[in-house]
Amino acid sequence: MAVRMELLVCGGTGCQASNSNRVLEVLREGIKGANLQDEVNVLMTGCFGFCEKGPIVKVMPDNIFYVEVDEDAARKIVAEHVVKGRIVDEKIYREPETEEKLPEQSSIPFYRKQIRIALRNCGKIDPENINEYIAADGYMALAKALTEMTPEEVIDVVKRSGLRGRGGGGFPTGIKWEATRKSNSDIKYVICNADEGDPGAFMDRSILEGDPHSVLEGMAIAGYAIGAQFGYIYVRAEYPLAIHRLRVAIKQARELGLLGNNIFGTNFSFDVEIKIGAGAFICGEETALINSIEGGRGEPTVKPPYPAQVGLWKKPTNINNVETFANVCPIILNGADWFAAIGTQKSKGTKVFALAGKVNNVGLVEVPMGTTLREIIFDLGGGIKGGKKFKAVQTGGPSGGCIPSEHLDTPIDYDNLTALGSMMGSGGMIVMDEDDCMVNIAKFYLEFSCDESCGRCTACRVGNKRLLEILTKITEGNGEMEDLERLRELAETIKDSALCGLGQTSPNPVLSTMKFFYDEYLAHVKDKSCPSGVCTNLLKYYIIPEKCVGCTACARVCPVNVIHGEAKKVHVIDREGCIKCGECYRTCRFNAITRK
Ligand SMILES: Cc1cc2nc3c(=O)[nH]c(=O)nc-3n(C[C@H](O)[C@H](O)[C@H](O)COP(=O)(O)O)c2cc1C
Ligand code: SF4
Ligand code: SF4
Repeated sequence: MAVRMELLVCGGTGCQASNSNRVLEVLREGIKGANLQDEVNVLMTGCFGFCEKGPIVKVMPDNIFYVEVDEDAARKIVAEHVVKGRIVDEKIYREPETEEKLPEQSSIPFYRKQIRIALRNCGKIDPENINEYIAADGYMALAKALTEMTPEEVIDVVKRSGLRGRGGGGFPTGIKWEATRKSNSDIKYVICNADEGDPGAFMDRSILEGDPHSVLEGMAIAGYAIGAQFGYIYVRAEYPLAIHRLRVAIKQARELGLLGNNIFGTNFSFDVEIKIGAGAFICGEETALINSIEGGRGEPTVKPPYPAQVGLWKKPTNINNVETFANVCPIILNGADWFAAIGTQKSKGTKVFALAGKVNNVGLVEVPMGTTLREIIFDLGGGIKGGKKFKAVQTGGPSGGCIPSEHLDTPIDYDNLTALGSMMGSGGMIVMDEDDCMVNIAKFYLEFSCDESCGRCTACRVGNKRLLEILTKITEGNGEMEDLERLRELAETIKDSALCGLGQTSPNPVLSTMKFFYDEYLAHVKDKSCPSGVCTNLLKYYIIPEKCVGCTACARVCPVNVIHGEAKKVHVIDREGCIKCGECYRTCRFNAITRK
C-alpha cells in the first residue's frame, strides 16, 4: 500500500532534550494501534530550528506544523489528524500578539524571511537514512563534479559563487581550494572543522545532526578539487548525537560506494575519518586543530605557512567549516550565478545564525546575507522577551562586539559587522535587553577568553588577565578614570600583538562596549552606580514611601538589621550599614523596594 502521510518529528538535540524521542514512540505506537503502519510513516528528522517551540511535529503532505508537542498531543495528532483528518487546533502555532493561528511552517514569521541552503534538508529527511538524502538530490553534485567537471572547473564555480568560509574569518573558499590544489604534493588532506566552541552556537551541530551527508559530499568534492584522497572531521566530544549520525552516514556512504575507492567508477577515491576533540575552544583555530589531530597540544602555530601549503602531517591541507561544506553541493548543482545572486556585493549566499538571549524566538535561522539585524531580532526572533527594551546584540561569539540599537538597520555581512567593531564569527547572535549591564557583559566574555587562552603568548595570557582585573575593579565600584584609558590601551595592544585569532579578537567586547556604551562605564567609575542594577557591589536599595504599607517583612529578613520602621508605617533603609544582600528586595510583596 502506498504511504499517504508522513509525520516528521524533530530529532535535534534541543527537541530531544524536551522529549521528542518519546513523542516519536507515542506516534509510532498510535499508528500501529490504528493499523496504519503501511499508510503512515513516522520519521525522526534533523532540527527545524524553532527550538523555542519544540518538540515539533510536521505532518506531510498536509503541511501542518505542530509546536510544543507532548505525549498527549502526539496521541491526539494520531486520533484526530491522522485518523479523522481534523487538525489538532491547540498545537498550531499562534502569533503571540494577535493569537492568529498559522498552521503552515512557511507562514510563521520565524520562517518567512528564511532561505535554507545549508539547512535545506534539516527537518525534511531522516538523517540516518542515506536513501532519503539521495532522494533529495544527494550525491548528485559529487556525481556531476566527478563525471562532468575537471577539478579546475569545480574550483572556478566555487570561486565565482563568492562563497566565503562560514567558520569565522570569511576567507573566499574557492581561493583557498585553489591554493591547496597548487601546492605540490602526492598526499593532501581535507579537514572539516566541527569544533564549534562559541557559547550558544549550534549551527554546525544542527547540520551534522540533520544532514550529515551534505557535509561528507561537500568534503568529497573539495577532495576532488584539491587532489586529496582523505579527510578528517574534527568534532567536539560534547556532540554525541552529531558523532553518532556522522558514523551512520559514513558507514552507509561506504556501503553504497559513495566513499571509498573509485567513486562513481572514476579514478577518484576518497574516505573520511572522525576525530573527536576534547572541547577546548582554541582547538577550533585551524593550526591548533591540526596539532590536536596529530596528537600534539592544541596550540596555534604562526602563519604563514598556511595549512594550504604546510598542514596536517606537513602536507597541504584544506580546512573548512561545516556550514561552508554544506553550501558546496547546491552551488555545484545550481551554478555559481544562482548562489552569487543571493546576498550582498561582497558576501554571497545565506548565513545560519543561532539566535539566543533575551529574544522571544530562540533558535536557528538561515537568512540571505544583507538581512538586517532588526529583521532577524524583531521579525524572525519575535522581539524582546517580556516586552523589554532592546539594548544590544552580540555577534561573532565570545570575541565579537556588542552592537547597539542605532545600528539595528545594518545589513549583515562580513564587512559591515567588522566595520561596527564586531564580526560575523561562526554565527552566534546573543540579544541583550535593558536589564543587561554592558560592563558586566564585557567582563563575562573576557572571562571566557581568559579561561580558553592556550597561554602560548604573553599578550593574550597575561594581557587578558590584566584587562579582566581592571574590569572587575570597575564592576566592584573601585574603578578610577585612569582605568578607562588603561583598558583601551591594553585592549589595543593585545589586538595588535597576540599570536592567533583568539587573542587578536578577545578585546572586542571591551572595545565595542566602550565605544557604544561609554556612559555605562562612566556611571560605574564616576557615580559608582550600575544603571542596569546588575553589579551587586554598586547597588543601592531604597524603599518607595508611596508603595510601602509597613508590613515589616523586609526588616525581619534583613540580616544586619538596618531597616527601621513601625508596623503599618513607611520603613527606611539605613544605607550606611546595608551589605547589599538583596533579601529585602526579594521579600517585599508590594514592590516597594527598588535598587539602582
Ligand atoms: C579561537 C578560534 C576558534 C575557532 N573555532 C572555530 C570553530 O569552532 N569552527 C570553525 O569552523 N572555525 C573556527 N575557527 C576558524 C578556523 O581557524 C578556520 O578559519 C576555519 O575553520 C576555516 O574554515 P572556513 O574557511 O570554511 O571558515 C576558529 C578560529 C579561532 C581563532
Ligand atoms: S593568542 Fe592566546 S590562544 Fe592564541 S596562541 Fe596566544 S595565548 Fe594562545
Ligand atoms: S516589605 Fe515592602 S511593604 Fe513591607 S515594610 Fe518592607 S518595604 Fe514596606
